[in-house]
Amino acid sequence: MNRPPRIGIIGVGGIAGLHREGYLAAGADVVALADVHAPTLAARAGAWGVTRTYPDYHDMLATEDLDAVSICAPTAVHHPATLAAAAAGVHVLCEKPIALDLEQADDMIATCRRAGVVLMVNHQLRSHAAGDLARRMLAAGDLGTLTHVRLRQAHDWAGAREVKPSFATRALAGGGTLLDNGCHLMDLARYLGGDVAEVFARVAHRKFDVEVEDTGHVSLAFESGAIGTVEVAWTATGWEEGWWLYGSEGTFEYTNRTGVPVVRHAHRTSPGTTWGDTDVSEHRFAGASAHARHVLAFLAGVRGEREVACTGEDGREAVRLVLASYASAESGRPVSARQEFDPL
Ligand SMILES: NC(=O)c1ccc[n+]([C@@H]2O[C@H](COP(=O)([O-])OP(=O)(O)OC[C@H]3O[C@@H](n4cnc5c(N)ncnc54)[C@H](O)[C@@H]3O)[C@@H](O)[C@H]2O)c1
Repeated sequence: MNRPPRIGIIGVGGIAGLHREGYLAAGADVVALADVHAPTLAARAGAWGVTRTYPDYHDMLATEDLDAVSICAPTAVHHPATLAAAAAGVHVLCEKPIALDLEQADDMIATCRRAGVVLMVNHQLRSHAAGDLARRMLAAGDLGTLTHVRLRQAHDWAGAREVKPSFATRALAGGGTLLDNGCHLMDLARYLGGDVAEVFARVAHRKFDVEVEDTGHVSLAFESGAIGTVEVAWTATGWEEGWWLYGSEGTFEYTNRTGVPVVRHAHRTSPGTTWGDTDVSEHRFAGASAHARHVLAFLAGVRGEREVACTGEDGREAVRLVLASYASAESGRPVSARQEFDPL
């Protein structure tokens, strides 16, 4: 591509704004928007100065000369929209979770492969400065052998009394917080700790009157022998995202709750450390958000400058581990992750 990439966005509600910021940062042109909800479409078009809008994404794909789309519609739309984009020869950055079930995910992966278009899933924690650093430090041996991880994503819908409608039903979302937030953490678990052998989950309904769970914990056993926990909630107060990695030679701590993006790396390099006081190296980050960095990675993948940062297969694996967790929560037993699972 010699000209800036031409981008369409399918579904222009909450998360679409962060995709747009990434495209702006990349110098791409967001040329067209599609959304079934006319007021949302009009508001976004006005705010973003995009004149070409469509109530039906099929019309956008048929009319516009697009290089790529971001699919930011509810999860139930990811599968049909990806198939339509692939048929139009358009690369896809698809929001998470990739799909409602593994069959849909398989279809999306196979269809995009046949069409020769990139399918990337928006598990942006891979591109988060602290996610990227964690992976590099593990690879460099800075933490020694990974022993356990704690992965957390929790919020309370900004204090709302109700869950956003597109997240509240199995039909639209596929699951509750364990799928919504948990799929990110399952992906991060794999990205940092490798394949998962077994999951043991509990879920709860504690606050919201919805058919899906609003609170969940999963205990992970990695193939490596390391263990971990995934903690998700729509019942926390405020927004918390963090990952803590423990290794034989050091600890990696990241939480957004410190106010500034900083990673604390605890280690025992100097001879004077004590029971409670260790050496600490801090890493501070400035600049682009994880979403913007992920969009930049997507476009680099489209140009063939790097491997796709989060493939359809990665997205499928995250959903598979969440479905395994639902099966575990239902049975009250640990479940081997070495099998396929039906949706909720
Ligand atoms: N990566 C992340 O961290 C992250 C964060 C939030 C949401 N998400 C994901 O993004 C997706 C959307 O979430 P959201 O919070 O933006 O939801 P939202 O409800 O705010 O926005 C979704 C938009 O899609 C539109 N829409 C519905 N059906 C459509 C269709 N057939 N064609 C075009 N538009 C359609 C709706 O009208 C709405 O404007 C979900 O899959 C969600 O899991 C990801």
